[in-house]
Amino acid sequence: MNMPDLCIAKDRKKTNISFIENKEEYKPLFKGKKYFLRTYGCQMNVHDSEEIKYYLESLGYMAVDKLEEADIVVLNTCAIRENAKDKVYGYLGRCKHLKKIKKDLIICLCGCLMQEPHEVEELAKNHKYIDIIIGTHNLNELPELIIQKNKEQIINVYSNSDKVFENVKYNRDSKISAWINITYGCDKFCTYCIVPYTRGRERSRKKENIIEEVKRLKEEGYKEVTLLGQNVNAYGQDLNLGYDFATLLEEVAQTGISRIRFVTSHPWNFTDEMINVIAKYDNIMPYIHLPIQSGSDAILKKMNRRYTIAEYKKLFNKIKKKVPNVAITTDIIVGFPNETDEDFQATLDIVKYCKFDNAYTFIYSPRVGTVAAKMQDDISMATKQKRLKILNDLVNSYSLESNQKLLGKTVEVLVSEVSEKNKNKVCGYTDTMKLVNIDGKEDLIGQIVQVEITDAKSFSLDGIVKNKVSL
Ligand code: 5AD
Ligand code: SF4
Repeated sequence: MNMPDLCIAKDRKKTNISFIENKEEYKPLFKGKKYFLRTYGCQMNVHDSEEIKYYLESLGYMAVDKLEEADIVVLNTCAIRENAKDKVYGYLGRCKHLKKIKKDLIICLCGCLMQEPHEVEELAKNHKYIDIIIGTHNLNELPELIIQKNKEQIINVYSNSDKVFENVKYNRDSKISAWINITYGCDKFCTYCIVPYTRGRERSRKKENIIEEVKRLKEEGYKEVTLLGQNVNAYGQDLNLGYDFATLLEEVAQTGISRIRFVTSHPWNFTDEMINVIAKYDNIMPYIHLPIQSGSDAILKKMNRRYTIAEYKKLFNKIKKKVPNVAITTDIIVGFPNETDEDFQATLDIVKYCKFDNAYTFIYSPRVGTVAAKMQDDISMATKQKRLKILNDLVNSYSLESNQKLLGKTVEVLVSEVSEKNKNKVCGYTDTMKLVNIDGKEDLIGQIVQVEITDAKSFSLDGIVKNKVSL
């Protein structure tokens, strides 16, 4: 899926503006101006938004949480399923309306949807009020584009997908937990998935740069890092420098940062070395997100997932045996083209077998350009919805069961923020990534505390502080 000419900086006069070198010079241009940033989709996008925040705030923009107050609106889009796209288009309607009243409003779209040529063509043709369109591989050019923006529409999507940016700056959302990109893109080409097209080929960052970033974050007081990649197992393979994900993980652990997490792990090349490292270090959290997608070998084959259910079970059991107290979560798609009742039953069977701590479930959504989108599909949406409901009920019963096992136990929680639902409580996650609401004040935020679990629901736990572990 190559980018058509239309998308490549068509109306753009390239300048030699160097935003980083001339940051102070541009500040007066944007002083007092406000930005509204909305993020759709996965952790990659959440982390990209931290990069976007760095650019906007460096220019002098201030964040607002009301669209109407904004001078620039940035929508960081997601393309994984049709409903993610629908949400973006729904919101664009509000932006368009605002622009009618506020003529100087800059509307900027970025993220995965902007890597899809047909989407960009549609936007360029029928949504002329959009000022800037920028892809996922050249976000670093955003400040330059904003500076350069004139009355004409700037359409700018690049597909320079083999670039790896080191030393990217972020204005992070949290002072406690930080995302760290370790790989970009994906080469797995699961037949339903748009990511290899929108995020490009698998590219790894250099190990020494990642380690340096972890050390810097630790010095700044961060308690937790989450290593991010579409498939972290593939880390290093493209570099040929003699190291892999297990090597990286071990060195990250040796920095001594309190908590290390990583997402996402593909069941296909999850090595014994990885399991050994996870088991060996206390600061690597016993939590693994291991998407299974389906319980049927026939469907897994059509999905190009590269493993059978027998192989998944073998890996699952090995991890459970070697990593004490590990929590395993998963992703499941229902309604893949021509999924039979037997296929779906096999999915229910594997959920019953694994009793996942949690599972993210989705109805299959055809994505233009993928192999599966061309497959014939005779299953009705009503059947797919019915299956999703049955699956969700089962999944939730196991989430509840695994949470209930913690009742009366004392667990370590990294307190991250004031609870959304109850301002008199704070909340955070256990080592196994379970959300706990705790009776306590804001001064607990940023600390790892011992919490006794007093109540368990499907999606969260309640608890009281026993004592503090670290300051
Ligand atoms: N339809 C439904 N779910 C999808 N996912 C990825 N692509 C699709 C699609 N086309 C799900 C997978 C993946 C998660 C991030 O999103 O389960 O693991
Ligand atoms: Fe998509 Fe498969 Fe790559 Fe995950 S591993 S991002 S599901 S192609």
